[in-house]
Amino acid sequence: MTEKKEFDLIVIGAGPGGYIAAIKAAQNGKKVALVDKADVGGTCLNVGCIPTKTLLAGALVLDKVKHAGDFGINIPSFSLDFAKMMQRKKGVIEKMRKGLEGLIQSNQITLFRGQAEFTAPHEIKVRGQDNLFLSSSKIIIATGSEPLDIPAFPCDHKVIFNSTSLLEITFIPKTLVIIGGGYIGCEFASLYAQLGSKVIIVEALSSIVSLQGKVVSDALSAAFKKQGIEVRTGVVVEGITTSGQTATVRLKDGSTLSCDAVLVSVGRKVVSSSLGLEKAGVLTTDRGSIIVDAQMETNVPGIYAIGDVTGKTMLAHVASHQGIVAATNAMGGFTQMHYAAIPAVIFTLPEIATVGMTLEEALAAGYTAGVGKFPFQVLGKAVASLEVEGFSQIVVDKKTGKILGAQVVGSEASVLIAELALAMNNELTIECLVDTVHAHPTLSEAWLEAGLMALGIPLHYPPKKG
Ligand code: NAI
Repeated sequence: MTEKKEFDLIVIGAGPGGYIAAIKAAQNGKKVALVDKADVGGTCLNVGCIPTKTLLAGALVLDKVKHAGDFGINIPSFSLDFAKMMQRKKGVIEKMRKGLEGLIQSNQITLFRGQAEFTAPHEIKVRGQDNLFLSSSKIIIATGSEPLDIPAFPCDHKVIFNSTSLLEITFIPKTLVIIGGGYIGCEFASLYAQLGSKVIIVEALSSIVSLQGKVVSDALSAAFKKQGIEVRTGVVVEGITTSGQTATVRLKDGSTLSCDAVLVSVGRKVVSSSLGLEKAGVLTTDRGSIIVDAQMETNVPGIYAIGDVTGKTMLAHVASHQGIVAATNAMGGFTQMHYAAIPAVIFTLPEIATVGMTLEEALAAGYTAGVGKFPFQVLGKAVASLEVEGFSQIVVDKKTGKILGAQVVGSEASVLIAELALAMNNELTIECLVDTVHAHPTLSEAWLEAGLMALGIPLHYPPKKG
């Protein structure tokens, strides 16, 4: 293997971080190489965001069909074709992947397929379908993360699954035990509960989706309970025994759970150990996360890292934005990453979306913080659409009116959060928000009303006594 090619920029990893960085540099006339050992699109497109949201879209349709009678529409009988749902998921991925391959090609980015490994600070070896050496003064590492396995109960991908292998399952489990009540656990809980599985979530902490704050966690727990999803918090799994298509999950409190499928969703680990980082001199934390500064540059000048491999907020849209920052800096510009107004969505039923600080975080940070919280129940559009479950909440600095954060639980939360992300990113105050005309009747009025509540001047909610 002696072939060697030189580029203005090499990007390792073609997920939503890497391919965005490559496009950004190519748009600016740079000669860019993009390397990936697997399909383009990374976890997000192939085994993450897109397949799960495709399946969840089906679950939402199913939910509507089940409740069609409430709208005066009688559907006497319906049935579920799980194989077709899974086939549709495959089709969506293939369509999006083809589109992405076309995009990479049209931007004249050279795609190399193989495993990349540093041989020197500015040289990498590619092995696989393509075999050659690449060199560049600028390299962006965007190799992502993979499901974290627990040695005490490794996934066999037959009865004990991780989030990747559960996407290939050919049956709907009768009972699904989910270990870990974070993003992944709760999204799959919503999906399989809709499809008819008995779902039990086992979470080690005292609440599910704990990072989203107490008000969100309580709302989701209550919604799950109503849907028949069992949530066991403060419980640690000791081990799992399998026999044929049956698993017995042993909990530390001595009890056991019997089921025909287990999902292990206890977090993700970064993919950095096979990169030969020591040959480049790139430093990592003891968990393997590549250490970067606000410009996304590592300790080695000209080498950047973006996305999950940095161990920072593990979200596709964060990786994409970091990709823009890294590519801009690699091309000689100067820009930095800011994390104060990052929206996050959990696609449960009901959806959850957050941006900025929770009330607890704002108080801990020393703000004189307060909230305005408004229930969907009172919104005309929510009542008309039978989407009354949920609320909007804005966290405000009472001294200055600065918006510190927002949380929304309910229909279209994933879309609604964009308004508050824009407001926060531009440091708007709560007065700016309530001074903005919101169309009626829409769910976006939830923000106007929450803003008025925060100011103590509600229009569609009874005033506080006294
Ligand atoms: P997570 O960190 O969100 O949640 C893992 C949960 O497992 C935690 O609550 C933790 O306390 C619990 N846990 C850990 N060990 C346990 C044990 N032995 N027994 C019981 N509970 C245990 O991780 P998750 O859900 O695996 O997701 C990984 C990442 O993927 C997330 O951080 C998120 O950034 C990303 N993601 C984003 C999505 C989105 O944007 N909609 C969807 C799915 C994943």
